[in-house]
Amino acid sequence: MIFEKIEHIKQQLSELRAENEEALEALRIKYLSKKGEITALFNDFRTVPADQKRELGQKLNELKNLATDKINALKETFKAQEKEKNKIDITRPAFPAELGTRHPISVVRKQIIDIFSRLGFTLADGPEVEDDWHVFSALNFAADHPARDMQDTFFVERNQDDVTRNIVLRSHTSSVQVRTMERKQPPIRIICPGRVYRNEAITARAHCFFHQIEGLYIDKNVSFADLKQVLLNFAQELFGPDTQIRLRPSYFPFTEPSAEMDVSCMLCGGEGCGFCKHTGWVEILGCGMVDPAVLEASGIDSSIYSGYAFGLGVERITNLKYMVKDLRMFSENDARFLDEFKSAH
Ligand code: PHE
Repeated sequence: MIFEKIEHIKQQLSELRAENEEALEALRIKYLSKKGEITALFNDFRTVPADQKRELGQKLNELKNLATDKINALKETFKAQEKEKNKIDITRPAFPAELGTRHPISVVRKQIIDIFSRLGFTLADGPEVEDDWHVFSALNFAADHPARDMQDTFFVERNQDDVTRNIVLRSHTSSVQVRTMERKQPPIRIICPGRVYRNEAITARAHCFFHQIEGLYIDKNVSFADLKQVLLNFAQELFGPDTQIRLRPSYFPFTEPSAEMDVSCMLCGGEGCGFCKHTGWVEILGCGMVDPAVLEASGIDSSIYSGYAFGLGVERITNLKYMVKDLRMFSENDARFLDEFKSAH
């Protein structure tokens, strides 16, 4: 009877399988635990006649070893499988790296620079913390000229008695015109992209800092017609070949005559729509012929040379090109906003 039982368990052990470690543990308990089937056979050992004890003892030990080996072997395969799972596969491609995007202001600044570069303009640069001379005085803003109030200036050092000693955050990139003319005689053909600062409350339509691109061309016989042609070419390159421009008389202390330039509305093509307030036009920049007094202030002979200048706001153009409604989005670092420009490069 007990020998049959041994044979029976042996048979079961030869087909031993387990789905997972828990199932295997259940089998171990079934055969080898204190109340297990094999342990029970050891208890029965006492009841068999003495002459069978030797053979039975041997068989029981074999059976126990067999069960232990089987279960250990299965345990090993589970361990190996687990190890395989955790192994690092060095041939596997890396997770796709999240690429950043260019900031929309950088995208548009680059587009504008590219257009003017093709027309022969080179880049010029100047400091953001400027003295009064380069931001105002050399540009024909008289000390008590009300035009100084045109731009709400941030003062780094303010001198009540002598405004010409003020140090300011530049309120426009026209300061770079002055720096360039002081350094170099004509012909001068530059564009100066840069950040400018104005003391304004931050709203959807105004910010205390923004970006401008200044253009300056000085040579012999430069005329207003040259200015208009360059600006027409620029507008058509930037907004499309059907774009029209219109120049309206305006005032800047450093240009005479001065104008503001409108382009035909990029939404309705000039028909008139809500975007252009039904005028068909949207304003994009200020420009004019450099005032002879400005040339003279920087050491350029205004009887030989003339020139034009223009200045445009990069945020404004970006708003128009990409229909951004709120200026504040440009400086909030919201990745959802920035991601929208992934394809704009
Ligand atoms: N500097 C002017 C502004 O910030 C723009 C401008 C530049 C106008 C050059 C005329 C010529 O408003």
